[in-house]
Order: sequence, then C-alpha cells, then structure tokens
Amino acid sequence: MNHGDLIAKMSLEEKISFVTGDGFWYTRGIPRLGIPSIYLTDGPHGLRKLADGRKSADFVGVLPATCFPTASLLASSFDPELAFEMGRALGEECRLGEVAMLLGPGVNIKRSPLCGRNFEYFTEDPLLSSAMGAAWIAGVESTGVGASLKHFAVNSQEGRRMTVDVVVDPRALREIYLASFEGAVREGRPSSVMGAYNSVNGVHCCENPFLLDQVLRAEWGFEGFVVTDWGAAEDRARGLASGCDLEMPQGRRGSAGRIRSALASGELDAAALDRAVDRILSFVLRAARTAKVPAVALAGSPASAAVPAGTEGLAEGPTPTATFIAPHHELARRIAAESMVLLKNEDDILPLSKSGPLAVIGELARTPRYQGAGSSTIVPTRLESLLDALGEAGIPFEFEAAYALDDELPVPALEESALALARRVGLAGGTLIYAIGLPPIFESEGFDRERLDLPANQTALFEALAAACPRIVAFWSGGAPVTTDWSHHVRALLAAYLGGQASGAAVRDILFGDANPAGKLAESWPLRLEDTPAYGNYSCSEDRVLYKEGIFIGYRWYASSGRPVRFPFGYGLSYTSFSYADIALDRSGIDARGTVELSFTLTNVGERRGREIAQVYLSFPDSEIERPAISLSAFRKIGLEAGESRRVAIRLGPRELRYWDADQGSFLVESGPVLVHVGPSSAELPLEAIFHVEGGASPVQHGPRLDLGSHPSAMSDLEFAQRYGSALPLPRDRSPFGPRSTLADMAEESALVRLLYRIMVAVQTKASGTKRGEANHLMIERMVGEMPLGRFESMSGGAVGPRFLGFLADLANHRRLRALLGLIGGAASSPDPFQEAKPSRRTRRRPI
Ligand code: BGC
Repeated sequence: MNHGDLIAKMSLEEKISFVTGDGFWYTRGIPRLGIPSIYLTDGPHGLRKLADGRKSADFVGVLPATCFPTASLLASSFDPELAFEMGRALGEECRLGEVAMLLGPGVNIKRSPLCGRNFEYFTEDPLLSSAMGAAWIAGVESTGVGASLKHFAVNSQEGRRMTVDVVVDPRALREIYLASFEGAVREGRPSSVMGAYNSVNGVHCCENPFLLDQVLRAEWGFEGFVVTDWGAAEDRARGLASGCDLEMPQGRRGSAGRIRSALASGELDAAALDRAVDRILSFVLRAARTAKVPAVALAGSPASAAVPAGTEGLAEGPTPTATFIAPHHELARRIAAESMVLLKNEDDILPLSKSGPLAVIGELARTPRYQGAGSSTIVPTRLESLLDALGEAGIPFEFEAAYALDDELPVPALEESALALARRVGLAGGTLIYAIGLPPIFESEGFDRERLDLPANQTALFEALAAACPRIVAFWSGGAPVTTDWSHHVRALLAAYLGGQASGAAVRDILFGDANPAGKLAESWPLRLEDTPAYGNYSCSEDRVLYKEGIFIGYRWYASSGRPVRFPFGYGLSYTSFSYADIALDRSGIDARGTVELSFTLTNVGERRGREIAQVYLSFPDSEIERPAISLSAFRKIGLEAGESRRVAIRLGPRELRYWDADQGSFLVESGPVLVHVGPSSAELPLEAIFHVEGGASPVQHGPRLDLGSHPSAMSDLEFAQRYGSALPLPRDRSPFGPRSTLADMAEESALVRLLYRIMVAVQTKASGTKRGEANHLMIERMVGEMPLGRFESMSGGAVGPRFLGFLADLANHRRLRALLGLIGGAASSPDPFQEAKPSRRTRRRPI
C-alpha cells in the first residue's frame, strides 16, 4: 500500500494522534494499518538510546555508545569530510540500535561565548557552520538513518530559552542566523528539522509560517517533516497550520482536543493535518524499509565496553554498538587529533620527547571533560584520560591533581603536592603538562555561563608552577572560549575542547608529535567579556533580547571595529609551516550572476607533513550598505608533504557575494569592487586581489550604521527599530501569571509556589537519576524553573496536569480561594493552557 492509500484509510482520530509522539522518544504506530512506531533520539555527538522499552527522559538506563568530539571541536577541523565520516559512524550505531532518527546536528550561531550550549554548536560563522552541518547530515543520512537539524531558528542562548523572543533585523537574520541552516538544508538534505523553543521577532518558532513554510519549504526546498523541540509545542492548531508537523514528546491531553475543535470550527484546514501526517508517514515508512538490522548485533554487552568513572550503573543491558567499539573509538580519536587547536608553541617546545622527566598536574588529566551536559550526554563505550593514554604508550610520568573539580576553592594540600612535584621535575630539566579547563558545572544545556574565566583554583597556580618548572605546557578542555590572561606563564597551549571518549589519546598524540595539529579556531577568543559583540544585549533575565550587533558577530565585529582578540577566528599552529603565494583571478570583472576563479600556491615550507586550512575572505570597500570588514567565503583543508607545493583553485560567485536586500525580499549582488583576501587566519591574510561586479544592485542602508568606534550595546532601542524596519515586538507581560509564565517567575511572588517548585525539582532529579551538584541537576533545576506552565504537561509525560498548573498560577496571582477551589475540583480555575492570559490594562505596553 502506498502512503496516500494509508492516509485515506486513517480515521480522523488516528491522524490526530499520529501528529503527536508516543512517550518521549517514539512516534505513534498504527498497528491496524501496519504503521510502525519509530525511535528518535539524541545526538548529536553520540547515540543516546535508553534500554529497551523505556520511554522517559532519563539519564539512567542509557546504553553505551561511542562518544565523539562535540561540535565545537569538530568545527575546528574545518574538514567536512571528517564530519561526514562522523555522521556515517553515528548512523551505523543508530542502525544497530534500531534508531530511525538522530536529533542533530545543532547549527545555531555562537552569538556569545556565554551560551552554555555552545559546545553543541559549530561556530560563529554561517558558512563554516552550514558546511560542517551539511556534511554531518549527509553522513548520517547515507546509512538510511534520518537527521533532525536543530534548533530552528536563532536559538543562541540557554537562559529563558523556552520563552525568550529574539528580535533580529532582516539582514542579520538572513545573512547570519538563517544562512547557517540554509546550506545545511540545501546540501545536507536532512529528513527533519526541529523547531526551536524560542520566538523570533514575536512569533514562536513552532508556529511560525514565515520560518517553516516560506523560508524552509518554499525557498530552500525542504521536503521532510518539522518536529517541535521537546516540549516546545504550544498551540497545536496554529503549529499545524504553520507547517510544524510532529509534537514531541507525548503527554499533553489538550493537544488532540485543540486540533479537533480547530478542525470543527474551520480554523484549521483538514488538508494541513493531512500534509503533516503525510510528511511524518513518508519518513516512518522509509525508516521501516531501511533501518532493519540483524538481531545478532544487539546480543549482549561486550566485555570491552568499560563504563567510565562516575557513570557506573548508568550503562545496563546490551549495547547496540558492540561491533563498532574499537573502530569507532579509533575514529573518535582521529577526529579529535585532527581538530584540536595548537594556540601557542614558544621556541617549539612541542612536540615533547617521550623520555624526559614528566609531571602531569591537574585533575582534568585524570578526570577528563570530554562532553557537555544535557540532552546530548552519552555513556561512552570506553573512556581514555590523558593519564590512561600516557600509561598505554609507556610514557613515564608522575601525577598530582592540584585542584578539585567540584569546587572553586583551593585545596592547600593538593596545591602543595603539585608544587613539590613541579619543583622536582623543574630541577631535573623536565616538562610539566598542566591540565586546565572548565569544570562540568560551568557549562551545560539549560543555562549560560556568567563569566569567561577559568576557576580561581586553576589560575592561582600558574605563576608558582611556572616558577618551579619553566618547561610548562598546558592543555585546555571546555566547550567555549575562556579568558587567557595567564597564558604568558605557559610555553605551549593546546585547545583540546571537548574531545569525546578518546580525547586523552588525541592530546597525547599531539603533545608528543604522533599527530601534527591541524585544527584552527572556529570562533574568536576574546580578551575580555566586555569586548564581545553581544555584551550588554545578551540577557538571560529578559523575555525579549535585541540583537543590536546585527551582522557584526564574532570575527566580523572584531575585524571591523579593530578590537584586539586573544586568538582570532581561523587561527591555529602546526609543527610545520606553510607559505602562500601567487594569487590570481581568471578575470577582472563579472556581472551579478557571474563567477570568478581564484587561485594561489600553497607550499609546506617546514620539515614534516601537515594539513593547512587555507581561508578566503571577501570585503566590499565601496559598498553602499554596512558590511563587515571581512567575511569567510571559502576554505580548503590541504595536506602537503614537507617541501610540497600545490596550486589551489576556488570558484566564487553570487552565493559568496550576496547580501540580503530587505526591500526586494531577496539576496542580491551589489555592483562595485570586491577584494579577495587569502591566508592562514582571519587576522593574517597575506594575499589580496580585486575584481569588479558590473550591473548589480545598488542597495540602500536601513537605519543608522553600527558605530564601530563604540559598542553595539550603546545603540538605542529607537535606532535599532530603524534598522529592524518596523515597530519592535513587545516584551511579554509577566503578570497576570498564565500558561506562558515560568515557575521561577511565579516563585518570586509566592512562598508556596517556591516550595512546590523545589519539590518538583527534587522529584524530577530523582526520577532522572542525577545528583545534586552535577551539571545535569542544575540543568533540570533551570529547565523546571524556566518552562512555561503550558508545556509542563508534555514534558512531565502527563504527570503534571492543567488543574495543578492552574492552581500554581492562581497562587502566584494571589487568588488563594480560587486556587483552592480549583484544586479540589470545585471551579475550573486553570486557564485553558493554550489560551494566553490577557495582560491587564496596567501592564500593557506600547510598541517603540
Ligand atoms: C533539546 C534538544 C533535544 C531534545 C530531546 C531538548 O531539550 O533542546 O536538543 O534534542 O531535548 O532530548
């Protein structure tokens, strides 16, 4: 039976139930028609499958799988082929685990290094982001498993992520935030896209016809299904009408009723429901055809699937990845070693000799940080710390922990032993490897960082360690940049990011020269938080965030404003060096639809084989509109033997030259000169050439230009509104409390709500198997606090119903009697969870 016939055979009730999941991870099957239920799960750097039959959102009962490097590290490889390989390996594990869809990749732009979830995203640059995302998707999809590209769109902060309205001007939206998704959709062709929790320009992402129907489907040709982020659905009738097909997870009793009544009143067209059913069903049937695997692959847990310290008891049951443990561990190690970025190497102190006296200091060398917290948490099949990796290679060393990871306070005894060891090794002319980084509690899904520095108990030691042992080499682990005002104390610094389960071996390979570092930074490392472009406009306490910096994100801001950074975008060292020469263009002028071929010669002028990431940036010196000083338009990763040269050719065309013209509502190419810059990083571009575009557009600047001598936070709301092009959407009114209110806001009003909030966090913490003080516990606390009331029912699997939520709202609104009556069932106190409470006259605000 083809799926058209199947839809014709489905009853209305079956269709309505089909557009909502079954439990947390399954789609709804219809056995009567032979329609199976399929499994969708996280992602993105490993498979997070629960042991058989579990339908909840637990951290317990997760089966082991390969934990690959997270996206921030993978992006630093600038190597889409590597992303494809990782995607394919993930797809293979999914097939063995009978998982039909992996929830990833995340291609949200890194607007600020503070975003707690940056480790799960690639970069601050849309071209690199979409290239890596597309390759990852293509790899997963090549195995028959689907990818769900997330979080669409402009979901660049964790604080208030469920309720925040992001206000972004048309050029920044198109040229930066949507561009990152555009390439990933057009080239990667994911089976699904996940709608984000937040709103963009006043409209919730999962009920947004502009984003879902116009941009995603009509403009980019997306043919798959759109799924809500977990618990993002609000008004399902509006969602379906806007092109949001599947609600996940299941749990909200009101959804079906809302769809039914909207169909009955004519508010929702039956064809919209059929379209959603059709899109989901196409994928379900494809998955059922392709994802079947031999049952033998699921038999038994292999002895080699060692469970890492701290996760004992989490891994249980058969692992789906049995046949892949060794090869995928090796792949994870290769990806990590190809991607880590060498930031400093004074007097070529690296690579180290394997025989000299060696001290390893820092708890992170023993207890590695190799992934981030939240929905992407993987139980790895193996875990190799740097200490394990040194032991395995027979490299002699002595170790001291120096600091604790669960507290910022120094532990004098640990420090003293570390300094004593440093002195001994220093006196013997040996080397000290200092493991530093962000402790797990510093960054996670669900909350943002508040500062950029390392914990004081790590930084306080630098001076004394360096004085005790001048040959000091540091490696840093973390998901996003830190300030490095201590870096003069170290002779070498390796940015290892979150390197996955084989990160220890990858660090060892680089430090001792078995691998030649070949990664470059996919994000700028600022000197200070105050220098970052979103500073002052990156708010986790407001319900509306204005993206005043517009297109000036990351290096676009630093290069245009001339503000120095600590390490620029695209920067990274190697144990060899490369020279750039002989730039040429095949023509000096093109029309607006034409292309130009750029070529240059790259030579490995060092003494060992290496891989260089050559970067091409464009600038538009006579543009009528504001443009960043440079924007990345192409990159190539090229491997060369010592002494080898290669002529590199790259074609540039309308895609690289375009700007978003808000008047025309399309991308256009502007007339005028275009400068081409080529080199090893955004801050070092030795080659330059020029060509002209004739017969292109003459754009008009909307609103004032950003004052590059000042800071974006200095722009007034009025000026921003002029750039935005219309009145700014209003911030949400917080009172009276209703379905869109958060528990944390309501807890400020009522001691009883505060108490109930604490109880709900405790219940959820226990149910999910996390412990106090862990990052995942903090995430749960924030998630419960910041979830709008109307979404609790689905995220709690139906355990928390509208009556109790209405009771909480009434308490916070100081309607105690109504609350009581509502709770005991005497009056319908709970507002319709899909009906927003009307703001009172007193709190209604005017648009700017
Ligand atoms: C996250 C998604 C994830 C989903 C399912 C959400 O909270 O934002 O990235 O895929 O949960 O775990």
